[in-house]
Amino acid sequence: MTAAIELRDVAAAYGPFRALFDVSIAVEPGEAVALVGSNGAGKTTVARVASGLVKPTDGQVLVNGADMTGKRPYALARAGVAHATEGRSVFATLSVEENLTLSFRRLFGRGGVRSHLDEAYEMFPVLGRRKEQAAGTLSGGEQRMLSMARVMVEKPKVLIADELSLGLAPIIVDELYATLERLRAEGTSLLIVEQQVTHALALCDRVVLLAHGSVEWTGTSEEAAGVVTEVFSPVG
Ligand SMILES: Nc1ncnc2c1ncn2[C@@H]1O[C@H](COP(=O)(O)OP(=O)(O)OP(=O)(O)O)[C@@H](O)[C@H]1O
Ligand SMILES: [Mg+2]
Repeated sequence: MTAAIELRDVAAAYGPFRALFDVSIAVEPGEAVALVGSNGAGKTTVARVASGLVKPTDGQVLVNGADMTGKRPYALARAGVAHATEGRSVFATLSVEENLTLSFRRLFGRGGVRSHLDEAYEMFPVLGRRKEQAAGTLSGGEQRMLSMARVMVEKPKVLIADELSLGLAPIIVDELYATLERLRAEGTSLLIVEQQVTHALALCDRVVLLAHGSVEWTGTSEEAAGVVTEVFSPVG
């Protein structure tokens, strides 16, 4: 089977600092993989390499078998790779609706905006109620929902989500994970970066544990349940 996305023997660096060493991770079509590890392990760097934000110094990035190594982020996006980045990724001074309209116009053309706005508001009713509000004044959780609404409507082949649950109320985290579950049911492959492993383990088939820029352990979620919580996350 050709992986939806694969990092093969990837190394990456920030200037003289080497952040990743010989990392190989593959996400099969329709599969969900959790990428876990302690602070500074290199999870976000893996996510950045996979979506083209960081160029690997060695190794390859393959999307559906095609070599995308060193390609710019928009080329990876066109190939179906979406990256929900750590933190907030909305245009603060634009309204909720303007944010959504911008992405939908780019993706579906002018004629596709209305129906996809409706779809987004149906998925996240709070966004419909706040569509005139400047995105920068939304709460943290609402901003995350705005980012997710864009991704959900886009239905990417691969979604890389970095610390989706960070700083959010449990009920919102549940909601976000339910939308991930739905995306996956529709065929999107998921690479989920999480500190808080409980949700990630429940959603994902396989777990990759990163330590000091290398893959330290990989196995199924069942196998990971004991190992991973013990190894790195006492709060689990
Ligand atoms: N832009 C950068 N310039 C220099 N060093 C960086 C840069 N980004 C990350 N690093 C370093 O690379 C290492 C890996 O960082 P990365 O963000 O990938 O870790 P992480 O596993 O996502 O950590 P966290 O769980 O804290 O988000 C860290 O030591 C970090 O300080
Ligand atoms: Mg990170």
